[in-house]
Amino acid sequence: MKKIAVMAGDGIGPDITEQAVHVLNAVEEKFHVRFQYEYVLAGGAAIDQCGEPLPAETVAVCKNCDSVLLGAVGGPKWDIPGGPRPEQALLGIRKELKVFSNLRPAKIFPQLKSASPLKEEILADGVDILIVRELTGGIYFGKNGIRANGLSAFDTEEYSITEIERVCRRGFEFAEKRNHKLCLVDKANVLESSRLWRKIFTGIKSDYPEVETSCMYVDNAAMQLVKCPSQFDVIVTSNMFGDILSDEASMITGSIGMLPSGSLGASNLGIYEPIHGSAPDIAGKDMANPLATILSAAMMLRYSFDMGEAADCIEAAVDSVLDEGWRTADIMQEGCRLVGTRQMGQLVASRI
Ligand code: IPM
Ligand code: MG
Repeated sequence: MKKIAVMAGDGIGPDITEQAVHVLNAVEEKFHVRFQYEYVLAGGAAIDQCGEPLPAETVAVCKNCDSVLLGAVGGPKWDIPGGPRPEQALLGIRKELKVFSNLRPAKIFPQLKSASPLKEEILADGVDILIVRELTGGIYFGKNGIRANGLSAFDTEEYSITEIERVCRRGFEFAEKRNHKLCLVDKANVLESSRLWRKIFTGIKSDYPEVETSCMYVDNAAMQLVKCPSQFDVIVTSNMFGDILSDEASMITGSIGMLPSGSLGASNLGIYEPIHGSAPDIAGKDMANPLATILSAAMMLRYSFDMGEAADCIEAAVDSVLDEGWRTADIMQEGCRLVGTRQMGQLVASRI
């Protein structure tokens, strides 16, 4: 039996996690496993009910589970200057569960190729990138503050050797399982912390002789991603560079509603979530695309539960549903059939 903490969150979060749970229910039957769900409060929903974005109870339940499935958090409702922010739940749970590596695949679905804003010739060689983003350090968690009565403000980028080495090794391990290419993205021409990343990265690469490595400045990487995305296999980078580049990479695929992510630390306990946001404008309207969350559940099975076959099965189910022409509004194309969140979830579940 595996215990899954479901952190539905805000906006469309409840709509999409519900469908991922439906698909997991289908997996239970087919693969003879049992999942137990613990529903926990986080984000704006938690601010409304408990006055804080990440209640201690939520953290305790998550730590006691085998994995966390997260919908999305945030919305204009909680955009109150000086007030608690739903995003603090995300940052807090990442830190509490020590998930130092964030895995963000950006892959073109052949069925949705035309949705990419890039020219067809640029996509000809395919796009299948995995961004491994450092998630519990750097400028997101460094020393910050306001000085001189608000006349200046600062944030600090600081990384220890340990923090750099463990996430770089994760990058190498994924490169070994994929196309054997790993690119470190940094700003070593300017930042001292980036120079430490390069030193550690270069120092451990001989442990992975099958992986071809490169280093790229982040500004160049931002350009190369749209110029020739097929040159990348795995990218490893710091928290903030990874935040920015993963949004860029997802847009290349043209279907942000399709992309999953997973965050892992040293143990098997991970956090799995779609990379898109909470889309409050369509919340509760049966319009959201649940596929990114369903695919995140697949990543959970693969990486946290070692159920690769069941993960493949979910991904194949999503593939057939797309092949058959079913589409939610965000990925709708001419000649396809429009369905809502629930029907999309049912379709995938029924193909498991
Ligand atoms: C993400 C988001 C978060 C981040 C925000 C909402 C705090 O942009 O998961 O990429 O910056 O990490
Ligand atoms: Mg982001």
